[in-house]
Amino acid sequence: MAVTEADTVVRLGDSDAAAGLVLSTETHWNQTEADWRFFVRRGLTFGVREDGELVATAALLPHNATDAWISMVLVTQRCRRRGLATRLVDRCVAEADRLKLTTWLDATPAGATVYEPLGFSGVLELRRLRLTQRPPLAEAAALGAGKLSDMIAHDRGALGFDRTALLTELSARDGSRLLELNGAISLVRDGRVARHIGPLYAPDLSSALTLIDVIVASETGPVLLDAVAGSSGFVDALQQRGWAVERPFLRMRHGAGTTAPGELPFAVAGPEYG
Ligand SMILES: CC(C)(COP(=O)(O)OP(=O)(O)OC[C@H]1O[C@@H](n2cnc3c(N)ncnc32)[C@H](O)[C@@H]1OP(=O)(O)O)[C@@H](O)C(=O)NCCC(=O)NCCS
Repeated sequence: MAVTEADTVVRLGDSDAAAGLVLSTETHWNQTEADWRFFVRRGLTFGVREDGELVATAALLPHNATDAWISMVLVTQRCRRRGLATRLVDRCVAEADRLKLTTWLDATPAGATVYEPLGFSGVLELRRLRLTQRPPLAEAAALGAGKLSDMIAHDRGALGFDRTALLTELSARDGSRLLELNGAISLVRDGRVARHIGPLYAPDLSSALTLIDVIVASETGPVLLDAVAGSSGFVDALQQRGWAVERPFLRMRHGAGTTAPGELPFAVAGPEYG
């Protein structure tokens, strides 16, 4: 092993997107090369190479002047438990501190063990669900096109900070759909192995579930979403409709929250984006 190379955290660029995808695919994640290109172009994405191969990554994605997301924390199997994730996340936090940004992330259970000692604390429980059994067909004709400005406004209200750049990018991608029904609004976008539903905002549980049913009826392939767990009953209701919980995520924050978050989403944009 080239020790000096493995000790060096480097900033990644456009030409690293394909190697990043190899890492996320090794862990069976759903990100596409378009996601990686977004991180290396719009974020500060760092990596460690060993013998020229990208073996570990982490990305800091500033959403606005106050808040940023950390994600794509990945270490190839053979290089784990050598402190690489700790070093990379530490670098992201240092950059965020320099830019005076509060940082957030959605942690897998293994990730949370890395982030806690670095000063992150849990703020919200999430559940990744995958549709395993299709419910009876819903009325697909009722679906309308959602307005990006409505999605941005709901999102800002829920998170307490603005994600216009991200939501504009995600909704403009090939295959993306922004859908609205009875005041509920959701984005549906391509993933590597499954279509991803979220963020989803709705006035109540019933309209959130109706929108999901109608989206499912209009999608033919695998679908997944990342639901906010808690008192809304959303996760239980999805499980009764043929969705299965795959894994938990814990939303964590480093630093003080800048604005008190408002009404919660039913489903988030995805652990990589928040
Ligand atoms: C989670 C992951 C990024 C950790 O990478 P890593 O480089 O092995 O982490 P570190 O070596 O910096 O670990 C630091 C500490 O975190 C804890 N830790 C890390 N991975 C752990 C695991 N799988 N189980 C329990 N504790 C773990 C340990 O306390 C470890 O210190 P130690 O090795 O001295 O005991 C890596 O296992 C991975 O890529 N997993 C799959 C993708 C993933 O879940 N990423 C996180 C997304 S939020």
